[in-house]
Amino acid sequence: MAVRKIIVASSKGGVGKSTVALGVAAALNSLGKKVLLFDLDFENKCLDLFLGATDSVVFDISDVAAGRVPPRRAVLGNRDGLYFVAAPGRTDESFDAKAAAEAAKKIIEAFDVDFAVFDTGTAHGVPEALAKTFPDAEALVVASHQATSTRGAERTAKLLDDAGVTDSRLVVCGYETGSAHKKQRSGILGIIDDSKVPLIGAVPYDRSLMISHERGVRMKPSSPAWRAFKNTARRLLGENVRLFDGIESIDRKKIIG
Ligand SMILES: Nc1ncnc2c1ncn2[C@@H]1O[C@H](COP(=O)(O)OP(=O)(O)O)[C@@H](O)[C@H]1O
Ligand SMILES: [Mg+2]
Repeated sequence: MAVRKIIVASSKGGVGKSTVALGVAAALNSLGKKVLLFDLDFENKCLDLFLGATDSVVFDISDVAAGRVPPRRAVLGNRDGLYFVAAPGRTDESFDAKAAAEAAKKIIEAFDVDFAVFDTGTAHGVPEALAKTFPDAEALVVASHQATSTRGAERTAKLLDDAGVTDSRLVVCGYETGSAHKKQRSGILGIIDDSKVPLIGAVPYDRSLMISHERGVRMKPSSPAWRAFKNTARRLLGENVRLFDGIESIDRKKIIG
């Protein structure tokens, strides 16, 4: 089976790209899939922190790009099949988005996984370089439910489309049903209308998620965010799952906004 590649992108910072990349990778893994998770945000790397793996990182993707280590040496793994490749601490001139995408390709070829998930930043043209290297990739475009970020999602999907990846789907991260209901922010229907990108997941605002990131520990299985990531992963696997299935804290009457 070919490895499915998922580019997680957004032209805006702080909307939840890293959160979604990790959440979806971990959820796919919990459903029995082997997943390689790449941190390709060279400005604001953070997945090593979210995973609590900072002290274990010795080599990163730039070492593979420069040929300093064989592809497998840059991969941190756990026995359950969730593997991680860190972003460089600092970059030299010979390392750029294209070099990172080529190095990612080598790592994927050296590994037996079902999915490769790429966290990207807003600088350096990483999503485009990935799209050119992996034209068969899919994209998860991330937005919060603020109008500027929904517009950013539309722009990001267009940029990826121009680079050759036509299959973009939207994940709304940090969704607050209360503020959508009070018309303070767009609701689900408004977001679908504005972004013009088909929705695949909505992750509620969840303080416990922030805490697990800070501490570098796994999300609580009962938490609303984890359930949302599971739903998104199941949809990626082709299951038909309702948007907020199993997320008790969501008031269904207030969902649409
Ligand atoms: N659904 C959510 N609920 C609560 N906090 C969130 C949620 N999504 C993201 N965050 C927090 O918001 C911050 C920015 O998220 P992050 O994923 O780092 O954004 P990006 O990668 O787009 O810059 C992080 O501190 C993260 O813990
Ligand atoms: Mg990030």
